[in-house]
Amino acid sequence: MSDNSACKIYVVVSGKGGAGKSTVACGLGGAFADKGLKTLLIDADEGLRCLDLMLGVADQVVFDTGDVINDRCDLADAIKEISGVPNLSLLPASNEHGVVGDGFAELATSLRDQFDRIIIDSTAGVGDGFKAAVRSADAAIVVVGGDPVSIRDARNVCQLLDDVGMTARRMIINRFDYKAMKQSLAPHIDKMIDNTALRLIGIVPYDRVLTVSAIKGKLARRGKAKKAFARIANRLCGKNVRLPKLSKI
Ligand SMILES: Nc1ncnc2c1ncn2[C@@H]1O[C@H](COP(=O)(O)OP(=O)(O)OP(=O)(O)O)[C@@H](O)[C@H]1O
Ligand SMILES: [Mg+2]
Repeated sequence: MSDNSACKIYVVVSGKGGAGKSTVACGLGGAFADKGLKTLLIDADEGLRCLDLMLGVADQVVFDTGDVINDRCDLADAIKEISGVPNLSLLPASNEHGVVGDGFAELATSLRDQFDRIIIDSTAGVGDGFKAAVRSADAAIVVVGGDPVSIRDARNVCQLLDDVGMTARRMIINRFDYKAMKQSLAPHIDKMIDNTALRLIGIVPYDRVLTVSAIKGKLARRGKAKKAFARIANRLCGKNVRLPKLSKI
C-alpha cells in the first residue's frame, strides 16, 4: 500500500438504473490507479455482475465475493488484477443473491489495510444489498444522469442514504452534453445542483469511447471522460482542481 493516506472506501450509487454507476466506478478506479494508489473495485451488483465483463476478466473469474464471504476460497483467489492497468484489481460480484449483507461490510472493512482506495459498485435502488454496500463505505458518490428523472431519483437515493446514516456524499453528473444543455434539451447544471442539494465533485461528459471500451472489455485509456475522471480523483484526494468551462468538458 502506498503511504498517500489511509484507505478510503467509496460506494457508487444512483436511484435510477443505468445512470452510469459501473462506468463511473471503473473510470474512477482507473484514475486512482493512475495516481499510483492501489485500488480495488468491488462489484456489489450481485446477480447482475458486470465489472468483470467491462474490465475484460470475465473468463478468468473462478471465485467471487460470495465464495469469499462463505469461506469457499481465499480472498487472494478471488481478487483479479486488471492487465494493462497497474494498481487496479477487481473483486467480482456473486451470481447468488443475498450475499451483500453484514458479511460484505466486514469483508470491505477487512480490506482496508491492503488497498489505498476501494470503490464499491452498488446495485440501483432500495434493497438490503444497497444498504449493506452503503454501510461499508466512508462516502457515497451519487451518479446523476442529465435528465429530469435522474434528478428526482437522486433525491430519492439521498433519502435512502439518510436512512442508513450516510451523510458524506458527492454528486457526479454523468453523460453531460453541453449542446443539449444550451438547447434546453437537458437540465442546466445549476438546476441539477439546486434540485438535488448535493455537492458536485465532477462532471463526466457523454463520451462514446466509454461505451465502446465497455463493449470491448477494456478500461478507457483516452478521451474526455478519462480526463474528467482524473480531475475527480484528484479532487477526492484533496487537490483543488477547477471545473473547466462547461463547453470544454
Ligand atoms: N459518460 C458516458 N458516456 C457514454 N456512455 C456512457 C456514459 N456513462 C455510461 N455510459 C453507457 O451507459 C450504459 C449504462 O451504464 P452503466 O452500466 O455504467 O450504468 P449503471 O448505472 O451501472 O447501470 P445498472 O443500474 O444496470 O447497474 C453503458 O452502456 C455505458 O457504457
Ligand atoms: Mg452497473
